[in-house]
Amino acid sequence: MNNKSFSQSCENNKEPILKVLKQVFGPENRRLLEVGTGTAQHAVFFAKQFPDLHWVTSDRTINHKVIVERLREEKLHNLHGPEHFEVGKTPFPKQHFDLSFTANTLHIMSWKQGKTLIKLWGRHLREGAQVLIYGPFKYAGEFTSESNMIFDKTLKSRDPKQGLRNFEDIKSSMERGGFRMAYDYEMPANNRLLLFTKLEFISKT
Ligand SMILES: C[S@@+](CC[C@H](N)C(=O)[O-])C[C@H]1O[C@@H](n2cnc3c(N)ncnc32)[C@H](O)[C@@H]1O
Repeated sequence: MNNKSFSQSCENNKEPILKVLKQVFGPENRRLLEVGTGTAQHAVFFAKQFPDLHWVTSDRTINHKVIVERLREEKLHNLHGPEHFEVGKTPFPKQHFDLSFTANTLHIMSWKQGKTLIKLWGRHLREGAQVLIYGPFKYAGEFTSESNMIFDKTLKSRDPKQGLRNFEDIKSSMERGGFRMAYDYEMPANNRLLLFTKLEFISKT
């Protein structure tokens, strides 16, 4: 296994995230789109935990080799993809989804792309659909820890468009997209898991 195909943070956060997913996922939830699947460690772990849920991976093509390899190794009946979904460049996957999950992506894509992703969720997900966004966020423009502030600096030195997003900006963009904030879960290592529910179907036109 090389660095590109293994993330220690995924190993550390998968159990705490699972605890929340167990509270959120119900028998009516059949298909989930994961945005920015990365190493596919989350995808494999969660697909095993929820055998009745179809977990559809997606990412930029640059990550597809790693995802394809991991999915081939695991051969899970309910794990699919990767879909070629690069926010800001490619269209939203043409399938029905009643859930979407994304971890540690909003600080990697630009905020313009983040807002595009939120708009696409709003246009493509129907009433009752749920979106889960995991990662470190700022609150009222403030970092919640020194380590998050250092992380933000590191990201910005790599690419000025990267960086931790404001919780309030995510929440208001999601509300404009037709979602209601359902819960803001505190997670280990100064991360959060934000849960949103779609209130109404907004026409794609
Ligand atoms: C830090 S990794 C997180 C991967 C995985 N979700 C995890 O938690 O370990 C960020 C991911 O976001 C993806 N990403 C970045 N920009 C993207 C975009 N515009 N559209 C879709 N995915 C994007 C990257 O390809 C990468 O897989």
